Amino acid sequence: MKRIGLFCSGGDAPGMNAAIRAVVRAAVFHHMEVVGIMRGYSGMIKGDFRPLNARSVSGIINRGGTILHTARCPEFMIYKGRKKAYEQLKKAGIEGLVAIGGDGTFRGAHRFTSEFDIPVIGVTGSIDNDCWGTDYTLGFDTAVNVALDAIDRIRDTAASHDRIFFVEVMGRKSGMIALWSGLAGGAESIFIPEARENMTACAREIVEGRKQGKTSAIVVVAEGEEAGGAFEIAKRFQKLTGLDYRVTILGHIQRGGSPTAFDRILGTRSGVAAVEALRKGKKNQMVGIQNGKMVLVPFSRMWNRRKYPDLAWLKIAEMMSV
Ligand code: F6P
Repeated sequence: MKRIGLFCSGGDAPGMNAAIRAVVRAAVFHHMEVVGIMRGYSGMIKGDFRPLNARSVSGIINRGGTILHTARCPEFMIYKGRKKAYEQLKKAGIEGLVAIGGDGTFRGAHRFTSEFDIPVIGVTGSIDNDCWGTDYTLGFDTAVNVALDAIDRIRDTAASHDRIFFVEVMGRKSGMIALWSGLAGGAESIFIPEARENMTACAREIVEGRKQGKTSAIVVVAEGEEAGGAFEIAKRFQKLTGLDYRVTILGHIQRGGSPTAFDRILGTRSGVAAVEALRKGKKNQMVGIQNGKMVLVPFSRMWNRRKYPDLAWLKIAEMMSV
């Protein structure tokens, strides 16, 4: 294989640039050419391609976001769009692809590779950590630490004012960030989409905590929580307890900023593993990390499976909030 294409798709995640750098430099090391595809599947359809060399990826390992930009692309969901993308790749002499993204990206790649003859290797990049087949996705560690830093700051003001705070973190369908940042931040309660949380019990515990001398509380809510996010939960809480509260929505700040050492290393190892996989003739697999080791997981196994958080963590959080 002489020329490969590289793109990011879906929501950006800190560590994507480290993975881009690793793919480019590992390919250059092996005398392969790399073509950067701008804005994911959408740039593939338009033929928005740029040559990348070892110097094009200088000074990016420490930067959040992605120098290739990213997008969600409805046109790629229809056959006509995918056919156009394939024709552009053929025209540019691209013989294999590295796709950096989350489960939506791999769902698209799985469909694409079942219709057209082009090998694709995926690198997991998503702050949500919701890809089946890998212990961690790129960007998750950074996002959790950003959320945790915010929770720590909120705790200062919550404690000073004897207040109850509802902090909403990202995760439309996944409670991973909420669970990790909530447990690490000592949250009194954590609401996630994967578990049916009992609002009445949560309110009772906070009121009980007040009687036991707790003056403030933090409740972490995943944005996709079925009851409707932090504002909705806080309103229900107020109805039940009559207590004053504040809501903070952390939003997209969790997706930005310099990646942690963990995400830079994961990006670097994943990028190198993706190039090695293409060189060995592997195709249509995702690079993941399991028990510290890089592994390849076929798209056909992972694309329609869901990764669930360990719900026992909710019980631990409850025990810790006595
Ligand atoms: O990339 C994942 C994610 O950050 C989710 O946690 C969040 O629900 C979603 O993307 C937000 O998407 P957008 O940036 O398109 O609003």
